[in-house]
Amino acid sequence: MKSINNQYNRIWKLSILSFLIAAFTGFIYRVGMLYPLPGSMDLVNIRHAHSHLMFFNWISPPIMVWMASVLAGQKRDLNHKAFKSCLYTMMGLGFLSYPFFLLYGYRSVSLGQANLPIAAIISGLIMITWYWFAWLYYQHRKRKISDFSLNLFDGALTALLISSLGAWGVSVFQFSGIHNPLFSSALTHFFLAVFTEGWALLGVMGIIWNYMNLQPRSIQTGWLWQPLLIGSILIFPFSLTQSLVTPIMLLSAKVGLGLIILSFVLHLYIFLKSKKFTGFVWKTILVLIGLKILFQAVAALPIDLWPAEHGLRILYLHLILLGIVSISMFKIFSFRDHSIVVQIFTVSVVLVIGSLFLISGYSPNRLTPDQPYQIVMYIAFLPVFPAAWILLRKVSKG
Ligand code: HEM
Repeated sequence: MKSINNQYNRIWKLSILSFLIAAFTGFIYRVGMLYPLPGSMDLVNIRHAHSHLMFFNWISPPIMVWMASVLAGQKRDLNHKAFKSCLYTMMGLGFLSYPFFLLYGYRSVSLGQANLPIAAIISGLIMITWYWFAWLYYQHRKRKISDFSLNLFDGALTALLISSLGAWGVSVFQFSGIHNPLFSSALTHFFLAVFTEGWALLGVMGIIWNYMNLQPRSIQTGWLWQPLLIGSILIFPFSLTQSLVTPIMLLSAKVGLGLIILSFVLHLYIFLKSKKFTGFVWKTILVLIGLKILFQAVAALPIDLWPAEHGLRILYLHLILLGIVSISMFKIFSFRDHSIVVQIFTVSVVLVIGSLFLISGYSPNRLTPDQPYQIVMYIAFLPVFPAAWILLRKVSKG
């Protein structure tokens, strides 16, 4: 079992703080669906503030910290200062973007004479820090060393860079004056799909392989990251309105889905065969991976179910990002500390995912309570308690 290099402890604490702020923002969104919010608070802006802080400061820095720690294990003179400068800049900008997304979303803000889309500008700067990190990583990455977790990290970073092209595309398109809803929506969902299926999932798989020291001999795994990367690039049409998707787009999205399913079935097989994934938290993560595979397998069938339906999309996104990715990160980064609290966090996340199923539009009537949104609102707050406890303990230990 491995842990992060001590140099990056503070970054991990800042990531947990970001999770807390973003999760609380998600809770406020649920409150806002039922009760009036103060002032000019707008649900769309609240959702932007929530999802961007989760992406910028919760998901990305811990994966990068683990990547730098693996490199440090192979290269004693790793320039930690350079990595830390990059990560602190990234997170500083992430925190700075939060109030602008919350108050204005992507709208322009008057600053003296100028009218500027501040949140979009800060997001652009954050993407530049991703390129900065990629440059540092490739400078220190020794090609000769073949370690499967590093292959996964190479793939993950490639996905992050490719996903950023979609995000730049949205900005360029916004200022081009051309109004084509398909194009703009396709670019946004391209970013979202490659970021979540490519960067976040490949990254966390890399962390799991490294932490568990997995070295399977029964199956040649060197290529296992490739279907996930290629699949993540192909599946975005599933997030578009069904009527806008042409047969060729649908075919390529299904090929992408098939590749992702193949990769995850093999990952799951290897994890189960290793017999290292014991205990409640790991078993829950394996079940969530199984549910992800099931969800995507059903989506590939020619039945009346379209993954872009709002309720299903929110359920699926949280199954992977809050479920698989966030539980794995709390489990692995806590490194034997707080094991009970990580279990409580896991239970709270399972409840959040279960509550999202109630409002997915696919919950059977007899299972759905009369006031589902009230229940979903209260449950949304639960993960904040164990995460806050872990952060407070870390801060008090110094
Ligand atoms: C306790 C934890 C969390 C809570 C309470 C929460 C809550 C919410 C809520 C209320 C929404 C808006 C739902 C809607 O539009 O109907 C949302 C959307 C979203 N959340 Fe979360 N969330 C949590 C964790 C996460 C995590 C860990 C991530 C990613 C790392 C994440 C990423 C997103 C994204 C990307 C969206 C926007 C989806 C879209 O494009 O519409 N959330 N979340």
